Amino acid sequence: MNFQKTYEQIISHKAFPRYTYERMTKSIAILGRQSGLGLAELESLLGTELLHPIGKVAAIIDKEPSEIPFSRLGGTVKLAKMLAVLEMTDWGAIEKYLADTIPKHLQFVPEGKLKLGISVYGFQLTTQKLNASALSLKKIIKATGRSVRIIPNKELELNTAQVVHNQLVGPTGWELLLIRDESRTILAQTVQIQDIEAYARRDQARPKRDARVGMLPPKLAQIIINLACPPPNATILDPFCGTGVVLQESLLMGYSAYGTDLETRMIEYSQTNLDWLASRYSLKLETYDLETGDATKHQWRNFDTVAGETYLGRPFSALPRPEILDEVMRDVDLIHKKFLKNLATQAKSGLRLTIAVPAWKTSQGFKHLKTLDSLEELGYTRTSFVHARNDELVYHRENQIVARELVTLIRK
Ligand SMILES: C[S@@+](CC[C@H](N)C(=O)[O-])C[C@H]1O[C@@H](n2cnc3c(N)ncnc32)[C@H](O)[C@@H]1O
Repeated sequence: MNFQKTYEQIISHKAFPRYTYERMTKSIAILGRQSGLGLAELESLLGTELLHPIGKVAAIIDKEPSEIPFSRLGGTVKLAKMLAVLEMTDWGAIEKYLADTIPKHLQFVPEGKLKLGISVYGFQLTTQKLNASALSLKKIIKATGRSVRIIPNKELELNTAQVVHNQLVGPTGWELLLIRDESRTILAQTVQIQDIEAYARRDQARPKRDARVGMLPPKLAQIIINLACPPPNATILDPFCGTGVVLQESLLMGYSAYGTDLETRMIEYSQTNLDWLASRYSLKLETYDLETGDATKHQWRNFDTVAGETYLGRPFSALPRPEILDEVMRDVDLIHKKFLKNLATQAKSGLRLTIAVPAWKTSQGFKHLKTLDSLEELGYTRTSFVHARNDELVYHRENQIVARELVTLIRK
């Protein structure tokens, strides 16, 4: 379906001074749970200039949705095309605007029952109020002779599963997004939605998984790779490859993958997993390479960039005694220092790499890997992002003790 871009008359260029709206070619990214990760990812791939964050939930991107490589983004859950910028934030006025304009757009929707969902971001609104607004829109649409089904809101935002299962990005579906940006409201329509089933398949159907080394979610693996920003056709090295999640996602993005791990068993697991992936996704077998090796002294063959999750140390289900935590942090720190020293002797100057390293959640906040204080001496400069602070790049789930801090470095 196409909620056509015929809203130019209401777009006020002068009233929106932060951006220039010459053409309505803008896209909206709705960011995942940890929006800093999504912003750093978009910034790495698209540059800072094209990106305008809206609070902590979304970002305007000065590109057409078709120019944005959505399927490789782990940190953006919805991609939408911008339809209008409304000079209003009063819900009653917005509802009236939708009631006036939606009927004009129905002609662009193919025959059949329209499925309509509404997600709102940044508004003080109850779901009851939103559902009531959606029902009044339903009546207005029905009065035009079209049949329509409204997707009820359990939350103010429809989740990915609701959008997918109700086919709101299909030919007869509309998910309209209303995003508050200070004194304005952006109206957008979702055109891409994260393929949660494909992620689950890649994660859970792999023949070899190992809870002991941790389960890196494929979305996070994508973010790690994107932060490293590999050039096209690059060979990506993961020196702590474990069961091969980063290697898998690298291959799916069209890169070559090179994995090493201290444990031969892990290399065998990665081999089995990547062979499975290659047969399922028709990938070329010669694009991946695996060998046993200790990252603190291994001599790697050719690689263009490094992306991966390093050794996170002992897993904890509860906060350990301080002396135990200190001991684990010391051990892990030593491995990281030796690894980065070894890598520095083999990495070309200017090489960009991203590693997910452990950070530990304590009652006083996160304790960071000590190695991060001596990166300059080790031969690296840490990249900072314009749109995300470093402390927003710590991937963490509630109740987890060991978090993953994403660190992007440039070999000096
Ligand atoms: C957190 S896991 C990485 C998980 C991996 N990203 C995945 O997707 O399965 C850490 C891995 O580091 C490996 N490891 C630990 N010390 C190492 C070292 N010195 N050199 C290379 N690998 C090491 C472990 O065998 C383990 O597989």
